[in-house]
Amino acid sequence: MIFARNAALNWRMSNDKPDLSAAYALQTPEDSKRLYAEWAESYDASFAQANDYRLHWHTAQAFVQAGGQGPVLDVGAGTGLCGLVLADMGAGPLDATDISAEMLKTAETKDVYRDLFDADLTDGLPVPSDSYAGIVSSGTFTHGHVGPEVFDELLRVARPGTQFALSINAAHFAEQGFAAKFDSLSESRILNLRLPEVRIYGDQASGAHKDDIALVALFEKSDAPL
Ligand SMILES: C[S@@+](CC[C@H](N)C(=O)[O-])C[C@H]1O[C@@H](n2cnc3c(N)ncnc32)[C@H](O)[C@@H]1O
Repeated sequence: MIFARNAALNWRMSNDKPDLSAAYALQTPEDSKRLYAEWAESYDASFAQANDYRLHWHTAQAFVQAGGQGPVLDVGAGTGLCGLVLADMGAGPLDATDISAEMLKTAETKDVYRDLFDADLTDGLPVPSDSYAGIVSSGTFTHGHVGPEVFDELLRVARPGTQFALSINAAHFAEQGFAAKFDSLSESRILNLRLPEVRIYGDQASGAHKDDIALVALFEKSDAPL
């Protein structure tokens, strides 16, 4: 693990630019802040366009098809790619949160969010309980980012009946105990869990991750008191 930790901290030395390998090698929220601060201006071109990234589109489409309503919180919104698709599909109002103020600065230029606020999801969100009727997240439940430990906080800020659409990298799902968390939540706190699989990248992608899969966790917050 010492090697992986050094790899994350020294991504600039080895790569001279942020990329998917550096993102997957992250270990802590501080690592994320550092890497995404550097990536914010070039992310849409150097990552999303260059890799034919599709996950934001699948996540937004799954949310809308499931009947998702606003107000919606886009969690780990990054540069706002998922929000842009949601706005095109008529969903809203949309708020964005992310650990990286720099990523949110880029998201703001897309002009689709009502409010944007930086916060470390693992520390909790500066938002009252029952604030949102929809919660979406694309690309944030993945290697080196966040795991199922943040679901309780997302449920706190969601109203009863809230539609969730959270993409979860399939390998991360298997490694980080998502199945056990969903089992415990399904007993009383969430309803109608479905886990359709989607391809993270499109047909133009190349490289080691081109066939990577994510699950889009679709569920609703139950009416039962927490
Ligand atoms: C791969 S990007 C995905 C961005 C965007 N949703 C998309 O689909 O393009 C992952 C995002 O998660 C954010 N992130 C990582 N750790 C976080 C944390 N602990 N709290 C909040 N956001 C976090 C990063 O800053 C980054 O913007």
